[in-house]
Amino acid sequence: MLTDKYADRIEKIFAKYPDKRSGIMDLLYLAQEEYGWLSEDALREVAGLCGVDPTQAHSIAGFYTMYSEKPKGKYWLQVCTDLPCALRGADTFFTGLCEYLGLGEDGGTTQDGLFTVERVMCLAACDKAPVMQCNFFYHEHLDLDKAIALIKKLRVDAVQEAAPDPSELDDPAGGTE
Ligand code: FES
Repeated sequence: MLTDKYADRIEKIFAKYPDKRSGIMDLLYLAQEEYGWLSEDALREVAGLCGVDPTQAHSIAGFYTMYSEKPKGKYWLQVCTDLPCALRGADTFFTGLCEYLGLGEDGGTTQDGLFTVERVMCLAACDKAPVMQCNFFYHEHLDLDKAIALIKKLRVDAVQEAAPDPSELDDPAGGTE
């Protein structure tokens, strides 16, 4: 439950607005950050906190592309393939990225659950195409080599995050006296 883990953060969100329902977008981001995506349960939870009907939470989540109502990978790669970017090679870039990750031509999520690749409309960085958001951080002036280097780095990061902290192991050396 969000309230168990983020009571202070939720309180601060509500303090910014004249009523609880106005905090719904912030809370949807918080729920997405916590659960990875906005499931029916997550939408209901946020709606309950804001005192609105779950259909209102659902309609907001469905309208904005920065919310996802589908499970997605740990790294959400959104590539703009809108016309100005397409003129600068974004389609070829997108296809190459999908091929490298073993995905079909429409993108999707890798089998290891690490990467979700999607086409999106203008990211307002048309002069820096090809451009891609990775979990909402911009990567601009991309080519396939740069994107592959990023993906390799993110794979290493994911492995390191998943590894146990050596200081928490009972016997880091693994030996016996
Ligand atoms: S058209 Fe791609 S960022 Fe604007």
